[in-house]
Amino acid sequence: MPADPRTILLMNYYRDAELRGANLLFRLMSHLEDPDSQLKLSLHLADETRHAALWTKRINDAGGAPARIADGYQNRIGLRVVPRNLIDILALTVVVEERAYQRYVEHAARPNVAPEILEVLSEVTKDEKWHISWIKAKLEELAAAAAGGVERMNEALARYREIDRQVYAELLAKERAAFEEPAQQQAAV
Ligand SMILES: [Fe+2]
Ligand SMILES: [Fe+2]
Repeated sequence: MPADPRTILLMNYYRDAELRGANLLFRLMSHLEDPDSQLKLSLHLADETRHAALWTKRINDAGGAPARIADGYQNRIGLRVVPRNLIDILALTVVVEERAYQRYVEHAARPNVAPEILEVLSEVTKDEKWHISWIKAKLEELAAAAAGGVERMNEALARYREIDRQVYAELLAKERAAFEEPAQQQAAV
């Protein structure tokens, strides 16, 4: 039996966030050229594209189809944020990764999550922890080396966390509204 179309849509939002996250990392590769960052970015980028592939496979196996998402998390963030320098880009990456981690942990804790979805959630959550820690460490290292860098870092993190809170509240409201309506009316979503 095909999965609930709302669940398929939710997985498409996760897939979109992973793909756009990968795109941000790909752009970072031309800014952080030291060998250690290149090594970590390569592994990190491979993780995010694998996460996108895992969600795509789960969508397909559940009888759904991968869909283009125009109003997902990163798109909404992108409308409000223009990172101006490397400290900004890294701070944004930290905030986005923290949200991905928090979103997956929160989903896995809900009652009655299908075992196949739980499997993907636990697989992707494992990687998000090291993503946050290395990007945060790199951000702190660069901030400490630049004049006024620590203040700029703290200011960027605070600004992006506030934007992230607004964007996530919008997405959650949308998701709740969809799940409160009877499933048959949602067939077109
Ligand atoms: Fe990911
Ligand atoms: Fe990640």
